Amino acid sequence: MTEHTQIGIIGAGPAGLLLSQVLHLQGIDSIVVERRSPEYVLGRVRAGALEPGMVKFLRAAGIGERLDREGHPHKGIAIAFEDKRFRIDMEELTGGGYLTIYGQTKITEDLMTARAERGGNLVYEIGDTSIHDLDADRPSIRYSKDDEEHEIRCDFIAGCDGFHGISRPTIPGDVLKTFDRKYPYHWIALLTESRPVSEELIYVHHERGFVLCSMRSPTQSRYGIQCGTEDTVDDWSEDRIWSEISARLSPDLADSLDTGACLDKSIVPKRSFVAEPMQYQRLFLAGDAAHIVPPTGAKGLNLAGSDVYYLSRAFIEYYGTGRTDLLGAYGATALDRVWKAEWFSGWMTELLHANPNHGPYDRRAQIAQLRLLSQSRAAQTALAQSYVGVPY
Ligand code: FAD
Ligand code: PHB
Repeated sequence: MTEHTQIGIIGAGPAGLLLSQVLHLQGIDSIVVERRSPEYVLGRVRAGALEPGMVKFLRAAGIGERLDREGHPHKGIAIAFEDKRFRIDMEELTGGGYLTIYGQTKITEDLMTARAERGGNLVYEIGDTSIHDLDADRPSIRYSKDDEEHEIRCDFIAGCDGFHGISRPTIPGDVLKTFDRKYPYHWIALLTESRPVSEELIYVHHERGFVLCSMRSPTQSRYGIQCGTEDTVDDWSEDRIWSEISARLSPDLADSLDTGACLDKSIVPKRSFVAEPMQYQRLFLAGDAAHIVPPTGAKGLNLAGSDVYYLSRAFIEYYGTGRTDLLGAYGATALDRVWKAEWFSGWMTELLHANPNHGPYDRRAQIAQLRLLSQSRAAQTALAQSYVGVPY
């Protein structure tokens, strides 16, 4: 069966859903295809810290209501190292900027509801996705569902299918350049039924390894614990998790640590990756399909949001005026912001983790950098500006 639409979107993660929602509000038609079930997509606990630009964009996309009601503003973060803990006052240092804690699962759910209410065409649980005729006026997406072959003919294809999707590999090898860095540690990421250790996020540097203390609500915490690259979730029992978090926290925080059931446990590899170009003929990549960052800077989801902002604006210009200026500029515009976030996420990662390959010199230099950051308003301002995000 062949269907026709303006934009064919591969992937119903935050990037694909948000793009289809924003386009719909401007009268642009799309079909979204997703290889997983809606329940599976909603069950993936991932990011949670939203930049102000992303919050504004989600509101403009018509899904701000629950976000404004349940999102928690975070006007500062704490960084702990040795026996010190200092606060970076993001709001003051950036002239009013702050992050909002609101889980990716909720954003996905809000977008799914909004698309369903407006009759969005979303096809879940598909297989064998492939892209064809990118150099023709009407390229196509083919897929199988319930033992039948399907085709979507469209004007443009948005590859929003995440890091392991098929869109990026469709770009020929002699066109695609990739930039990759792996770090010698992973995170075990947890969602727990327990009171957060603090009202604000804490990034803990410790010689045993880094810990992120984040939260989702007054009764749910989110932790990221540095672990080895060979570790599996089975290596981390609840006992080991709580005793390791406790060992890496300062005594005052460890004493008040609330331990509870683990609702979700996953290994998150630490990797920086960028693919260029983000556009090839009639295919446009957005989100993790084009780039990933280590989560220390809280940028992955926010970059998916800014890509969709630039891409939707380009499609809106094209369908409104026939002009292709913004479509042509999409890759360069998105990559400028992507690379700044890549740099920041890599820098935060290296500043805060215990690197098993470091010798005594590197360890001393790392502590010196943390001390400098704790004492220098200029250094804190630079961190705060990147953390709240480069304006769209
Ligand atoms: P995705 O969310 O990956 O969505 C892509 C979608 O495409 C998926 O639903 C997938 O099933 C679908 N798909 C893939 N292949 C196909 C195909 N062939 N056909 C059809 N559909 C396909 N970021 C942070 O900022 N903080 C965090 O704490 C954090 N934790 C993370 C933990 C994990 C385990 C992972 C994997 C990522 C984490 N991230 C985090 C990153 C953040 O979640 C991503 O940047 C964000 O999900 C990107 O959204 P996306 O829509 O581009 O990609
Ligand atoms: C989260 O709450 O999921 C979160 C917060 C900050 C990060 C990464 C993840 O740096």
